[in-house]
Amino acid sequence: MPERTPYFAANWKMHKTVAEAAEFVDTLLPQIAATQSDVVICPPFTALSAVVERRYGTAVKVAAQNMHEEASGAFTGEISATMLAELDVEAVVLGHSERRQLFGEADEALARKVPAALAAGLEPILCVGESEEARDGGQTEAVLERQLQADLAAVEGGKLGEVVIAYEPIWAIGTGRTATPEQAQEACAFIRDMLRERGGAAGAVRILYGGSVKPGNAAELMEQPDIDGALVGGASLDPTDFAAIVRAAG
Ligand code: PGA
Repeated sequence: MPERTPYFAANWKMHKTVAEAAEFVDTLLPQIAATQSDVVICPPFTALSAVVERRYGTAVKVAAQNMHEEASGAFTGEISATMLAELDVEAVVLGHSERRQLFGEADEALARKVPAALAAGLEPILCVGESEEARDGGQTEAVLERQLQADLAAVEGGKLGEVVIAYEPIWAIGTGRTATPEQAQEACAFIRDMLRERGGAAGAVRILYGGSVKPGNAAELMEQPDIDGALVGGASLDPTDFAAIVRAAG
């Protein structure tokens, strides 16, 4: 299996003003200076530039939490991939379950967002994951398969290695109820097998686990062969907790 660089993303959701974002970055940077992993901060749109400015000269990357699939147009309140790229943002979270559940984000839109991000030079962090009912009903794999097939439909095999996938079971997000390392590994291995069937560089794709990742459970999750990192919500708001999670990769 090819080496995959571990990948840790801090999804702040609707948290942190510009001043708070700047303070976070200044506190985080010295704590992760030695890491070989990819470290990505996902601030709200308003704090993107502040984080970009502060991370210049470091290995930290910056991601937006959403974008529109069109390059421009009459879409009040939306932001395009080119607007993000102009800010020197390198990545974008797409299809987070909060966007799917609270804002009606559909697979049809995601099928266009993923290639639009790639075309603008942004690394898509595509989130997939099942609800509690789906897991209890034995539908986890069916849900993951449906989401991945729809959302990656327009991505050629050769581009697959540029996509990061985040497996985030909805029942584990913000609940304190982390998937067990075995449950997370099983789902991430299933995702990798699916990508392999599509052809392309499935072995190179970073697959993250997300859902109540904390300093205390990060290491056992990272030990799993198909888990390459974490998408961290609540625990990423504290720079020292997030740095501890990054260091869990060893
Ligand atoms: P959580 O959120 O770490 O607070 O569970 C994860 C996410 O929503 O990406």
